[in-house]
Amino acid sequence: MINPINLKNHRSVTGATDANWPVYQPLVTAIHDKLHEHNVPGTGWLQDPLEQNSSVLFELNWLVEEIQAQADTLIVIGVGGSYNGTKAVQQALTPYFKESDIEIIYAGHNLSGAYMEQLLQHLQHKNPYVYVVSKSGTTLETCLTFRLLTQFMKTKFGQNYSDRILVATDETSSPLREIAKLNHYRCFPIPTTIGGRYSLFTVVSLLPLAVAGIDIIEVLKGASTAAKQLSKREIHHNIAYQYAILRHEYYKKGYHVELLASFEPCLTTLHEWWKQLFGESEGKQQKGLFPTSANYSTDLHSIGQFIQQGNPILFETILSFGQMEGDVVIPHDQNNIDQLNDLANRSFNEINCHTKEGVIRAHLDAGVPVIELEVHKLDAYHVGYLCYFFMKACAMSACLLGVNPFDQPGVEHYKRKTLESLTNSVVHSMK
Ligand code: PA5
Repeated sequence: MINPINLKNHRSVTGATDANWPVYQPLVTAIHDKLHEHNVPGTGWLQDPLEQNSSVLFELNWLVEEIQAQADTLIVIGVGGSYNGTKAVQQALTPYFKESDIEIIYAGHNLSGAYMEQLLQHLQHKNPYVYVVSKSGTTLETCLTFRLLTQFMKTKFGQNYSDRILVATDETSSPLREIAKLNHYRCFPIPTTIGGRYSLFTVVSLLPLAVAGIDIIEVLKGASTAAKQLSKREIHHNIAYQYAILRHEYYKKGYHVELLASFEPCLTTLHEWWKQLFGESEGKQQKGLFPTSANYSTDLHSIGQFIQQGNPILFETILSFGQMEGDVVIPHDQNNIDQLNDLANRSFNEINCHTKEGVIRAHLDAGVPVIELEVHKLDAYHVGYLCYFFMKACAMSACLLGVNPFDQPGVEHYKRKTLESLTNSVVHSMK
């Protein structure tokens, strides 16, 4: 049987081993059992993603057909976990340079006035639908952007504008739910037990991904297989836990930064999703690995120097793929002034692969530990599997550190401080 992901621990001199798995097993078992207990807050995503979505998939089919017939643009409003996963999977699975039938535009992930002004201009001659995603229904960036775009939609489409507005928010309580009810917007529930950064396999991302032409059934099948395979408590049988333990070991050895690197530019946003997942889940109580990322070979010509010979604070996790769609062969040139004929008839993917091997060796020589996650293929099924793998590894990693993977007190604090600052500035300007 082919493994969807193989984990390789390329050991440097200071590398972590798997010899200590028996030592970890009791703690891992206790954490696993706690996570899998019924009704633990934040763990709704542990249920099989395919089964969990079986009823909504039918409804989504109709909706996607409607949007594809009625619109040329879908504006996805949301920030953090309410948009990162969607953008990540869309970018990973959409061919480079593809002109889409429906343009997906992301908004609400920044507060740039210039971005908003230019977006409104861009939309003048478009025929959009709006999809606003906020679990809390209170996030400033999302709510301000939604208010602005609602006004735009009213002006553009008159009284029928509400047919073009779709909402996803917490299934129980959220001001956005109230707004949707009052204005007759169609509203999809986000399960209370699933937090933003763990919501990739819910309507949050499934709707826009399906509109973008991504095969969401394959994504869900991959995630569903991962949910089954990674539900074992034995470390030997669970590579998500093996990855979590390796990260923990490197952290304890003083490597405080984890660099996720890959060799395909379409994975840039997947890196961003990964950073949010691990950064928000682990970074609390003065603990946690700082997650950062690099795109090779581009970044070998920028921060690659630091990675190899700079301050030795990081270990690297390389994401590689056994099979890639698309490749080209280097042509022969009879003048050979560039001296590249030795590489003629070899392919770009082959050279990319050798670059990966070279990078791993050079980084190990320099004492940078390298974990390699070798994914069988870059396709919808394996991207679904990979994302679920990261979610499961992340939950275990955070618990090994002794922090709650499912809250984000720092984010809540900054949100409150921003509101305080805005309120104070109103008071000052009124004086
Ligand atoms: O992962 C998280 O919980 C956060 O990143 C949220 O997704 C982000 O803050 C947006 O929150 P909301 O969906 O409530 O607007």
